[in-house]
Amino acid sequence: MVKDTTTADWWRESVVYQIYVPSFADADGDGIGDLRGIAGRLGHVARLGADAVWLTPFYPSPWADAGYDVADYRDVDPRHGTLDDFRELLARAHGLGLRVIIDVVPNHVSDRHPWFQEALASPPGSAARDRFVFRDGRGENGELPPADWQSKFGGPAWTRVPDGQWYMHIFAAEQPDLNWDNGDVWADFEKTLRFWLDLGVDGFRIDVAHGLRKDLTPPLRDTHGGDTAPLNAPPEGDDHPFWDRDEVHEVYRAWRKITDSYDPPRVTVAEAGVSAHRLPLYTRPDELHQAFNFFYLRCPWDACAFREVVDTSLAEARAVGTLPTWVLSNHDVMRHVTRYALPAGVDHRAWLTAGGRDPEPDTAAGELRARSAALLTLALPGTSYLYQGEELGLPEVADLPEEALRDPMWERTGHRVRGRDGCRVPMPWTREGPSYGFGPGEAAWLPQPAGWGGRSVAAQEGRPGSFLELYREALRLRREALGDVSFTWLPARGGELAFRKGAGLVCRVNFGADPLPLPAGERVLLASGPLTPDGALPSDTAVWLAPGASGAS
Ligand code: NOJ
Repeated sequence: MVKDTTTADWWRESVVYQIYVPSFADADGDGIGDLRGIAGRLGHVARLGADAVWLTPFYPSPWADAGYDVADYRDVDPRHGTLDDFRELLARAHGLGLRVIIDVVPNHVSDRHPWFQEALASPPGSAARDRFVFRDGRGENGELPPADWQSKFGGPAWTRVPDGQWYMHIFAAEQPDLNWDNGDVWADFEKTLRFWLDLGVDGFRIDVAHGLRKDLTPPLRDTHGGDTAPLNAPPEGDDHPFWDRDEVHEVYRAWRKITDSYDPPRVTVAEAGVSAHRLPLYTRPDELHQAFNFFYLRCPWDACAFREVVDTSLAEARAVGTLPTWVLSNHDVMRHVTRYALPAGVDHRAWLTAGGRDPEPDTAAGELRARSAALLTLALPGTSYLYQGEELGLPEVADLPEEALRDPMWERTGHRVRGRDGCRVPMPWTREGPSYGFGPGEAAWLPQPAGWGGRSVAAQEGRPGSFLELYREALRLRREALGDVSFTWLPARGGELAFRKGAGLVCRVNFGADPLPLPAGERVLLASGPLTPDGALPSDTAVWLAPGASGAS
């Protein structure tokens, strides 16, 4: 079946390619990615066969958190270009048949945002401070934070201002949280959504979607939590003072009315680190369209674990009449080629912080597994989010010199957590050149490792068996299997996952150590790596098969 991309429902079974704006392509040569650079490289995404791109923030920002600290929601940062560049990018994308989803960051602003500057210049209790979460401190002279809340980037979630009050920030001190009990905040975000929708964007990815509403009833409740849990780990318990509160859904019901008022309706995807049973609440029919599936992303390389996550994800999504999303990597986590190269049980962040060598990653196994994971993921019913560079099999750059690190986590944790720079190293496009085709400048904002060009698009283009050609072929075949979202597990041998998607696609993944003979009657459409000489499926290999005339095994 050929997919009809003109329908309002295009997003249900699509492939969305995440462009991490600072690191995709740099047209002006300053070493930082920009919109003109992206526009010039969209052909790669179209050729890959994706349906849409998601652009991470490109708004004016002092870059305390690489753009997730927004100083102006309705403009473009000069380091990334201009509004006209954005218009041109949008037109180019649409011309290539690609939808464009942009990031909206409603939980916090930059400390340079005019509202926060106004709040700092205004007295306690003022209307300007009420747009944020300012409170008096505890202790005899208010010298202690108002509650024990911890920042996700390390340290307390409160910073004191000269007049003695404290303001709240779930992330860096330069990212003060907004107060979503304040009407100005609602009105301003509606304005922002409409601004970009009127320009023609196809949807939004909503940053920290589960954090907007806070329980600010005095006295504030302590959480007794640590500061180094992974970014999207669900909160403990269902009644947390700032994570995943029921009131947050009022925001999304209001936003859904806005996105539905456009023709065709625009789409939204939540970044919400919540428990599996609370995640579907975000995608009820009158709320957001999709939510990222961090359970799938965090799943270790293990057949039982994957099976359980797939079952839960399908059941939870279907309960609210939608399909799950699937994702293996993004700009906040270690790239999956490297995650899968490490033995089970290794704490990825601790490993990285300790230098990324002990234990030595089994890169060959990581690559084999990443290729299999691609086939597994792309065969599942629902939407796949791909992170730029995964189609090249890029690994985590684990040995960035300390002086190159930019993630606020590194400093805020007192060098206890190395942060996310290693998955954000700019894309290699060409085999050679000062930044491997990333841009005309001498160097990229994060140093690219020697040999990066060997993994570039140019090096993999047309090379049979390369990551890039595997992804291209998988996306092409996937398109043919769209439309029928039925899903059935097939009887599996030890260490195997096997399922049928729709009527025409069987996926088998061998997580075990021994090769598995392929059932007679199934025709191989695509394999993540070579089969054994007698046609069996080797360890860490996946295959797509067309069911035989008499049905699958
Ligand atoms: C999630 C984003 O993906 C991450 O990069 C950012 O640091 C935090 N939200 C804070 O905005």
